[in-house]
Amino acid sequence: MFGCEVGPMSIFSQALAGLARLSSFQHRFVFVKKLNANRLVRPLCAAIALGASLVSAGAQTAPPASLQQRLQAIFDMSAEDMAATSAFTKRAYEAQLAHIYRIQNKQIRDIVLEFVLNPKATAFEQAATQSWLASPGSGWRSHHSYPGGLSVHNLEWVEVALGWSDTWEKVYGVKLDRDLIVAGLILHDWGKLWFLFDDGSGKIREPDWYPKAWGTKANWKWMGGHGAVLYAELIARGIPTDLLFSAASAHFDPYWALEKDGEGMNPALREAAEIAKKPAPVVKPEERMAEWWLVTFTDEAWSFSTMVAARFAFELLEETAKDLGLKPDSREANKLAWFVLSRVGDFKIYEVYQKAGFHREAVKQFVRSVLDDPAPYEVPKR
Ligand SMILES: [Fe+2]
Ligand SMILES: [Fe+2]
Repeated sequence: MFGCEVGPMSIFSQALAGLARLSSFQHRFVFVKKLNANRLVRPLCAAIALGASLVSAGAQTAPPASLQQRLQAIFDMSAEDMAATSAFTKRAYEAQLAHIYRIQNKQIRDIVLEFVLNPKATAFEQAATQSWLASPGSGWRSHHSYPGGLSVHNLEWVEVALGWSDTWEKVYGVKLDRDLIVAGLILHDWGKLWFLFDDGSGKIREPDWYPKAWGTKANWKWMGGHGAVLYAELIARGIPTDLLFSAASAHFDPYWALEKDGEGMNPALREAAEIAKKPAPVVKPEERMAEWWLVTFTDEAWSFSTMVAARFAFELLEETAKDLGLKPDSREANKLAWFVLSRVGDFKIYEVYQKAGFHREAVKQFVRSVLDDPAPYEVPKR
């Protein structure tokens, strides 16, 4: 009847009753929402399992594995812990490293490994304050805005760009330099390594020393900001310009926005060269490389996951947190979002929503099932 082998209806009713009873002993995480059985027809084995666990929770005063305890454990976790114990983000991190080790050009491979494994923003005299593994893919509530998001973001683009590169080879017989594509994409958001997980607010913020982003003419506010942190470092270390231009192509389209009223790739490189106190490398319009196109049109064109799914996931995670009695945008609600997104990602949340016929309740039940039993999404910390 519910699409899974769960036993008689009475168990389902008891599960719902258990959810309602839970409000009698929860202090901070109270389920006060009136449950509507008709809206729970879709939810799935996971919802039944959660309800059943709460039946037993309702029968005890302090269940050892209660949702409340699990939530408290989540609030106590650091971003580093979340990324290090998530199968999803660990897999992305390791797959990304495997792509780096497959770079044929030793000079480029060593540069990327040094930037990823031993990161230092020497142009700003800043050591890394978190691991590459834990780093987020963006600021708060944007794309890949969770522990491990940077690796997921990079891996998606590398896989898409290499697939595109294969397509060009099949169609045109053109063989691109895959090293430049992989290295450019993995480095393109290197500056986000310093985006901080603020444990006090549960938000992600830029550090105080970070150059402010500005501009609107060549693109969104992508002068300065995390791009400048990377370009200044590449220029300060005298990294080959082909790689610098490849990485910078993520934020500036070198075909149509090389220079727009003082903004664009060449002005951004001039700005970074000033920080690095070195001469500015210049992209010549007549010497643009095909490899850069793939960097531009993966990162700059965004993806479904990047904004549509991400925005939806944050909205639904906030609703779920509210249902659990957590204040919207509180530290606890935000850390709950870090945790769930680090386990399943935003696109998976959207997939559940779409496949359930665009029912928000199904997503909430899915999120609760992750909270109730995150073990299938986790790996031991090493
Ligand atoms: Fe970026
Ligand atoms: Fe990016």
